[in-house]
Amino acid sequence: MENKGISQAVIGRLPRYFRYLGELKDQGIERVSSQELSDIMKVTASQIRQDFNNFGGFGQQGYGYKVEYLYGEIGKILGLDQTHNLIIIGAGNLGQALANYMNFERRGFLFRGIFDNNPALYGRRIRDMEVLPMKELSSFVRENAIDIAVLTIPKNCAVEVAEELVKEGIRGIWNFAHVDLNVPPDVQVENVHLSDSLMKLTYNINRYETHYDA
Ligand code: NAI
Repeated sequence: MENKGISQAVIGRLPRYFRYLGELKDQGIERVSSQELSDIMKVTASQIRQDFNNFGGFGQQGYGYKVEYLYGEIGKILGLDQTHNLIIIGAGNLGQALANYMNFERRGFLFRGIFDNNPALYGRRIRDMEVLPMKELSSFVRENAIDIAVLTIPKNCAVEVAEELVKEGIRGIWNFAHVDLNVPPDVQVENVHLSDSLMKLTYNINRYETHYDA
């Protein structure tokens, strides 16, 4: 489906639509109107229609969207109709936590390997994967058709590791290291900063307190 030129704000809302539609689907609900979706998701119905219009509107005909169809189409836009092979680089606290979180696999994100440069960790099993040394990274990426790397390493080495991954043909980096990576335009990077979310929380706490005090 054509989705060039669509704003990142719209793309950023798609996973949430996908999640809610998945829940409706699991409840056996076949149709939902934009108003009903609006009530459940606390987004205006006009926002929902505008968002969906970017993709041709998904054919709402008076009495609602077909849940399963919409779920499938949004899944396709998000690339979830294919499986993705992932590796984790950095088998510390965060890398292990991500490796142990099974739900990614339900969405087709398959963890294939976990790497570290600390020899004390080599061979340690995390779920069904053994921690591998960094010298095996390049051949592993090529031989296992790895398309996404998760970086859970310190920021001082993340740029260099990303460059190596790019050379081996990685297509996407899920970057938890607090540093901007230098990658060519055909490699996608998604930076994750949990602290951003926490700061939004404190902003809202403070705003509520100010409002309440006034
Ligand atoms: P950790 O110290 O438990 O794990 C880091 C692992 O990376 C260690 O096992 C270490 O041996 C390995 N490592 C270091 N240099 C390496 C290299 N050149 N190649 C391969 N492996 C290497 O740290 P933790 O808590 O798991 O955090 C990992 C990273 O994620 C840190 O950079 C931290 O700042 C960041 N982080 C980011 C968050 C976010 O929201 N973006 C949240 C939490 C941590």
